[in-house]
Amino acid sequence: MQFYVLTLFPEMIRSIINTSITGRAVKNGFLSLETINIREYSTRKTNRVDDYPYGGGAGMVLEPEPVYQAIRAVEEKIGHKPRVVYMTPQAQVLNQTKVEELAREEELVLLCGHYEGIDERVLEEMVTDYISIGDYVLTGGELGAAVLIDAVSRFVPGVLSNEESSQFESLQDNLLEYPQYTRPEIWHEKKVPEVLLSGDHNRIEEWRHQKSIERTAERRPDLLAGSYQITCVTAGGNESSLLGGRILRKVTRYGKIMDYNRRKLQKTRMVMEKDELLLLVMDESSIAGSESEDAIPVEERFRNLYGNDTPVILIYEGSVQAEELLVFLRSRGFLPLEPEKLPFSASEDEITGTALNIRKKTLQI
Ligand code: ADE
Repeated sequence: MQFYVLTLFPEMIRSIINTSITGRAVKNGFLSLETINIREYSTRKTNRVDDYPYGGGAGMVLEPEPVYQAIRAVEEKIGHKPRVVYMTPQAQVLNQTKVEELAREEELVLLCGHYEGIDERVLEEMVTDYISIGDYVLTGGELGAAVLIDAVSRFVPGVLSNEESSQFESLQDNLLEYPQYTRPEIWHEKKVPEVLLSGDHNRIEEWRHQKSIERTAERRPDLLAGSYQITCVTAGGNESSLLGGRILRKVTRYGKIMDYNRRKLQKTRMVMEKDELLLLVMDESSIAGSESEDAIPVEERFRNLYGNDTPVILIYEGSVQAEELLVFLRSRGFLPLEPEKLPFSASEDEITGTALNIRKKTLQI
């Protein structure tokens, strides 16, 4: 992953990123950081790049031409137009989903403003994303760019060791992390919760999930609105359940998977609620009308599946009759979100993309 940071204070970025884990990743070639001093593209003898604002007012404004030329130089170097992120408090605040989306780019250009801002015309022409790191005003965009690079880097393969791995992360489910304990077992008369000493992994997982929910409700109740208990129902051959499992693990760490294959039609009634999300992974062979002996009418296959304004995302291979299925799901109390097409031979990268799309969709409900 290559970061190009356009700034008047290159040292500020370099000193942060070339330290600790990101510094190690730069040394080992997993990240590259190039800082570009906007001043080098000054059009004046004095090397100045700012001027008074039209209409008056306090402060100075960065001129458009040096910023334009600095971005053009990056474009020429890499041979195409990259995503250009302008760090500004006048934007949506960065979150984990956006971080993971940005981590899928090969290059990112980060533009840091100073003074009262940057001439609007060059922003309109060159910037693809506006990002804030919080609802407060900093003296410039450099700290924001460093925060963004640090967060994005964690998702770049090779940056974290296995131990530091970002696979299971706070905020993955829009939930805060559960509390952690280490030795000693008793400290200041406080004992480590019993369940953690039990060795029973299912109970530990359940306890941690519960603590995550409690902590989120207490400290960040706003996040709970976008948090769903996710069930993945697969129907079709073995391939669909394998694919379902791969997607589910990328979307949530607390998901359930249920197989609705021919011989395993669910016998018990399942009613899903509003704060749940159904991921329905199907292939053509499981739909009536197909040649396959596994084909069963949807009414029969899902005769025990009901929703209660429950959002559902259909994930299917190209040829499934999606429209028909969505009509059926609506009649059963589900709220279909836009379906996702995905081949069963999907690469790891395609699965990550689908998982991200699913998360984005749930944040928009
Ligand atoms: N520049 C100034 N304040 C900022 C903020 N909150 N986020 C990103 N860039 C900024």
